[in-house]
Order: sequence, then C-alpha cells, then structure tokens
Amino acid sequence: MDDFIYRGPGAQGGGSANRTGGEELFCEGVPLSKIAREVGTPVYIYSYHTLTRHFRVFDEAFDGIPHVICFAMKANSNLAVVRSFAALGGGADVVSGGELFRALRAGVMPSRIVYAGVGKTEREIEAALKAGILMFNIESQEELLAIDKVAGRLGVRAPIALRVNPDVDAKTHPYISTGLKKNKFGVSIEQAMDEYERAEGLPNVEVVGIHQHIGSQLTEISPFVDSLKKTAELVGRLKSRGFGIKYIDVGGGLGIRYLNEKPPLPSELARAIRPVLEDLGCTLVFEPGRVLVGNAGCLVTKVLYRKSTQEKNFVIVDAGMNDLVRPTLYQAYHEIKQVITTDAPEFSADVVGPICETGDFLAKDRALRVPQPGEFLAVMSAGAYGFTMSSNYNSRPRVAEVMVDGDRYYIIRRREDYEDLVSGEEIPEFLGEKAAHDA
Ligand code: LLP
Repeated sequence: MDDFIYRGPGAQGGGSANRTGGEELFCEGVPLSKIAREVGTPVYIYSYHTLTRHFRVFDEAFDGIPHVICFAMKANSNLAVVRSFAALGGGADVVSGGELFRALRAGVMPSRIVYAGVGKTEREIEAALKAGILMFNIESQEELLAIDKVAGRLGVRAPIALRVNPDVDAKTHPYISTGLKKNKFGVSIEQAMDEYERAEGLPNVEVVGIHQHIGSQLTEISPFVDSLKKTAELVGRLKSRGFGIKYIDVGGGLGIRYLNEKPPLPSELARAIRPVLEDLGCTLVFEPGRVLVGNAGCLVTKVLYRKSTQEKNFVIVDAGMNDLVRPTLYQAYHEIKQVITTDAPEFSADVVGPICETGDFLAKDRALRVPQPGEFLAVMSAGAYGFTMSSNYNSRPRVAEVMVDGDRYYIIRRREDYEDLVSGEEIPEFLGEKAAHDA
C-alpha cells in the first residue's frame, strides 16, 4: 500500500492535529486524521494514484496482446472508482442490472461491458441488450434459452460466451472458490461442446467467446495455467468446428497481500499464460477486481471504548461487521494501523464493533499499542469487497467514501443519514396514523 505511508511529525498537512508527536499515516498527500476529523468516521478512503497505477500495471503486463480489462465492479462499484478505470480505457464486469446501471452512469463504454452471474432476470437481460454490451457470460442452458427469447423479442442478436467450469482447485477460501465441479458456476468443460452446439442452433444468439473464472484471492499461478490450458484446448476444438470464438475471458482472481501472502505480479501471470493463449488469435478479456482496488483503500474508524474481561481485551470501535464483513465472513485478516503512532504499551486485543453479534469483529487477538478513546485506527487493504458488501444492519447508516488525489480529497459518497434508512418504507393505512401510546 505504497500510497498509504507514515510521515514524521510536522509533515506537511499533519498540522496541529498531531499533538502526540507520533508519525502520521497519510493517503498520498493527505493525513488520514484530517479526513477522519472533517468527514467523520467510519470512512473508506481510496487513493486515486494507487487505483490508476494498479490499472496501468495490469494493462502493461499484457502489452502486445489484444485485451480488454473489465473491472469486476462487485469489488468496488463507486462511480468515481469505476470512472477512474473507464478513463484509462477500462471496461466493466457486471453481475446485476444495478451494476450495469452504475457502469453506464460512470461512463464505461457498453462495448467494454461483460455480464456474468447465474441468475440474470429477463429485465436485466433486456437492459444489457439495449445497452449493447460486449457479451453475456452464460452460466446455464436455461439462461441461454432465456437470453435467446429476450433477444428475439427485441429483434437483436445477443453476443454470448459460455462460462466453462474447468474443475480446477483455486486453493483459496471455499466461499470464494468457483471453478470446481461442486460449485454452482458455469457448465462443465465436458458438456461445453454440446452447449455451444445448442447455442449455434438458436436464432437470436451469436457465439463470440468463452469465459472462465475459477475463484478469488488466488496466490499461486498454477490454477490459472492449469485451467487455461483446458479452456485453450476447448477453444482449439471449437475453432476447428467453425465457432467464432473472438474473446477468451480469463476472469479475475489475482490475489493481493493482506499479511504475508506473496501473490504473483500481473507481469508474472502474463508471462505464464501468454504461451497458453497467444496463438489462439483471440482478444483476451480480464476481470480483475481485488488486485486493482484492494490495496488502494482503507477503512478509518475511531476507538470508542476499551474493556477487559478475565479472558480478553477488547477495543470497541465505531465500525462494525456491517461496514466491513470480510473478517467475520471469511476469517479474513486486515492489518490495523494507528493513524497517529504512539509509544503506548502493546497488548493483545479483539477489535470489535458496536453490532449486537459475537461475530462483529474486525480483528482477533491482535497485537496493538493500547489505544486511547478518540484515537483513529486504519483497517488496511479494505478497498475491495469493503463498502460493496456493507449493509444497514442494526440500522446503521452506510459510511462515507473518500477519494484522495495528491493533496486534495473528495467525498465520493456522502454518509447516509437516518432519513436514508427509512426512505422507501411505508406504514400501511390499516395500521393507523398514530402510535398506540398516543391513541
Ligand atoms: N469475475 C467473476 C465472474 C467473479 O465472480 C469475480 C469475483 C471476479 C471476476 C473478480 O474476482 P477478483 O479479481 O476480485 O478476485 N467477497 C469475496 C470475494 C468474492 C469474489 C466473487 N467473484 C471477498 O471479500 O473476498
């Protein structure tokens, strides 16, 4: 997280906030404490410089091979983030009508949008056809028939790729592994030829590609290579039978460093898969999510209280599992840094939120400097699957999102307020106008 660095006391912009004389954690040229004070906490903070650097590094890794980078919006669908990539020529991988809407609103070219997901509804299919997306990544025979039907109704041909399931172990958390036979995604590579033939027989679809995505947070290259070898072999057979496979969509999945993982660099991935795919004469589509945004963002939270039981120390902060669910859902590790360093003694504590559930934690048994109430902590590597997976559980307004560019910051999503919580809700007339106690 190169754009999140500590600078010494008195660093430009640190100003009077830093009364302890400790070092200040900055995002680019802005102290996180300044944003936390001015925008409030919890707050997600993204570095524009990191976002665009990550995109460029990925893009350059595949220099010389025709390719499109379709950012997996599920990782972070904020309009400003999506626009940052679109401005560099990026497309979008969407999985819902809502993500399609956001992609278009953010200015992504429809011809650079791919649409995956096992449960596309007719309404969503229609919207994507009207927008003119690059292709649908089809996950089942019934979905194929549904797309053919909707396209027929609209009088258009739907460009499609079949998502094949290469049955390769991605060696990642079981919840985010998708390329095994037991997973719900895609069609098995053995059945794929039959499905392609069925597609070819349909009047309103046009076969344009093939798609795979085997899982997320992959830290080894071999599952990519093994699965792509299977897919490439199938592409060879499809081409020899006359199928117009123009696009090979490799999916996403490249992991990032949360603690001491050593995921391959995009350049290493490129080096490994080039020989497998190069001679097929196809345009490659990539759907990176986490690797572009994960380490471009953090969640800043404020310490509210501390308490100790006979067993444990707890640091209670103002961010909860509704704001960042990854620790409790996947036992995911996120580093926690002091926004202003202190030389307080170290202790081991669980960092927990205000939600009424035992699973509401951001860290377990973590070595920390004993923080004071009011101190800010930064939960690192939270740019991917952070805000997008947040909810209003316990009627907590969703937090603000901020983008830093150099020494300026921008609020790219305002904090929700209580009115937002109830907007759209109605009390039906039969329940009466007044509450019972004043009737
Ligand atoms: N393409 C498809 C079809 C996907 O399903 C996904 C992620 C991606 C691309 C992007 O994968 P990435 O490059 O980000 O690994 N919520 C989980 C991750 C779920 C990933 C789901 N699919 C987490 O917080 O770890």
